[in-house]
Amino acid sequence: MIRTEIKNVFDIKFLGKKIKISGWVRFKRQSKNVSFINLNDGSTINNIQIVLNEDIQPDILDLINTGTSISVYGTLIKSEGAGQEFEVTAKSVEILGVADSNQYPLQPKRHSLDFLRENAHLRFRTNTFGAIFRIRHALSFAIHNFFNSEGFVYINTPIITGSDCEGAGEMFNVTTLNKSKFAKNQNGSIDYSNDFFGKETNLTVSGQLEAEMASLALGKVYTFGPTFRAENSNTSRHLAEFWMIEPEVAFSDLSQIIDLSEKLLKYSINYVLENCKNDIFFLEKRLLEEDSKKKKEERNPMNLTKKLKHTLNFDFIKINYDEAFMILKNSKPNKKKKFKFIIDQWGVDFQSEHEKYLVEKEFNYKPVVITNYPKDIKAFYMRLNNDLKTVAAMDLLFPGIGEIVGGAQREERLHILKNRMTEMKVNEKELWWYIDSRRFGTVPHGGFGLGFERLVQYVTGMSNIRDVIPFPRTPQNAEF
Ligand code: 4AD
Ligand code: MG
Repeated sequence: MIRTEIKNVFDIKFLGKKIKISGWVRFKRQSKNVSFINLNDGSTINNIQIVLNEDIQPDILDLINTGTSISVYGTLIKSEGAGQEFEVTAKSVEILGVADSNQYPLQPKRHSLDFLRENAHLRFRTNTFGAIFRIRHALSFAIHNFFNSEGFVYINTPIITGSDCEGAGEMFNVTTLNKSKFAKNQNGSIDYSNDFFGKETNLTVSGQLEAEMASLALGKVYTFGPTFRAENSNTSRHLAEFWMIEPEVAFSDLSQIIDLSEKLLKYSINYVLENCKNDIFFLEKRLLEEDSKKKKEERNPMNLTKKLKHTLNFDFIKINYDEAFMILKNSKPNKKKKFKFIIDQWGVDFQSEHEKYLVEKEFNYKPVVITNYPKDIKAFYMRLNNDLKTVAAMDLLFPGIGEIVGGAQREERLHILKNRMTEMKVNEKELWWYIDSRRFGTVPHGGFGLGFERLVQYVTGMSNIRDVIPFPRTPQNAEF
């Protein structure tokens, strides 16, 4: 007999029919001679209720605990009890794998997110994480769908690289050398000539530079892959290993890149609203419960659905750095010295407290794009503006998240690129191939990077980024 997935069982066409379902027991309740088992197989947030007459197989009843996996053969009927429309009366139950209730960490009660993070191998089996990872899937599907329908080519850029795209030096080394046997060059630096690649290599921080090469032939490309940052940031928005989506578009300028990011985000969020209704509804309820325990000023101003629709219903706000700087400089918290970092000198980088102020206070929870940042606080590859002080950069800020996208029009002019590389101490020798692209048929182009987990965070409303990736990698933590 072929198994029916639980998400498909809730259907009038199965009424009175014999079916087989399999899953993990979420909860068992006994009443008189009958056991009521809530079963879930991950295909939906909804459990199906199994009604098992205890006379049928009295010997296995004690084995059916939370976490036990079973197959049930039975008939779908209309439920008389409250809380569910359908249920299954079991003819027989097959135990696939027991879960000893004295040892199984998950119990039918609410566990803290901290506890579940320590049990990340099992947390998929909770309602919350089932919902999150189905939504994560839907978002990644939507993103691929979007780019495909827009005519983009999906490119896989290398995970092991020899370059540091962001120039921030936050890289994980990749080596097969035995550290204690590292030979030193005459100048005292490590000799990598005997290493696997014959040179120093690291895990990529961004696929952008390679994606640019592809875009300068294929026109429109995007990457969607893992990236790695050895930054020691223990925050709710940073991972050492995260996934990034990086489109790169030839013959485009900054404003086209901004429009692309807005279109992509709206498409993906709308896709989830239309296709993940049950999961969103569950997470919305969860957030409301969580909020009810918080102080009024710390609560979310909108419920989850409303928040997501709010993102769709308005144009993103677009301001340049100078405007953002003046707003912040003249803001109440700045004047009253409530910001930890006071905004006074043109040229400073904005901190998350400033981003939060702009998005939430100044622009009423609408996404905000800030453009044309001072060149000194941005990467070498961004196009120098005519003022010679700023670059054609963009950061997109989301409410509750902060920066979700960072992008730019790229410097396509050879001599200016070289000047910038010298200025920013970027190794020209390492990036000879990048420079080549400006020597041979260069064109205006640009792109951005969207932090995938930050998007999943926004859509699910989860406050910690460690709860939207299956197995988070953070400083001092690489379990599983
Ligand atoms: O702003 P970033 O560093 O930009 C780049 O890497 C560019 N090369 C992208 C491009 O233009 N192709 O990173 C892009 C985005 C950020 O806006 C943020 O959403 C996310 O990646 N991000 C992180 N997400 C989780 N953990 C981290 N440590 C992150 N660092 C950046
Ligand atoms: Mg950035």
